[in-house]
Amino acid sequence: MKILMVCLGNICRSPLAEGIMQRKIDKSGLDWSVDSAGTGAWHAGEKPDSRSIEVAKKNGLNISMQKARQFQLEDFKNFDLILAMDSSNYSDLVNKTSLESEKSKVRMIMNFKDPGRNENVPDPYWNDNGFENVYEMLDVACEKFIEAYK
Ligand code: 4NP
Repeated sequence: MKILMVCLGNICRSPLAEGIMQRKIDKSGLDWSVDSAGTGAWHAGEKPDSRSIEVAKKNGLNISMQKARQFQLEDFKNFDLILAMDSSNYSDLVNKTSLESEKSKVRMIMNFKDPGRNENVPDPYWNDNGFENVYEMLDVACEKFIEAYK
């Protein structure tokens, strides 16, 4: 299974999702891979936001080596599932392709916790206090995902 985590900038939410999922994959001994990307290109080449690096570190996770990149159309072919952090990421992604087989790879990540609810992982970029909440939400969603698919 190849999983791609996607948010807007690929510096706050999806790097955390990648790091959290990678650790769960390693702990479960699964032969899966995980990567992350942003729908926007503004932060391409940058490390994750220092507040994401910090909340990850508090939880024993090092994400400081990650580098932001923009989502590419080839990602539809290279990944089995593309997990969007919010409904705007979701619609940006499905609108990039006319193929049903590619659209169906795109899912809202929190639906692995509460199917069909389409809950957003809130963008913490403008909210210094939002990062702990984002970490907790992603940790639960990734745990449910692993339990369902492993
Ligand atoms: P992310 O957060 O999508 O979770 O990486 C953001 C990062 C940067 C911006 C917006 C959201 N920005 O506008 O630059």
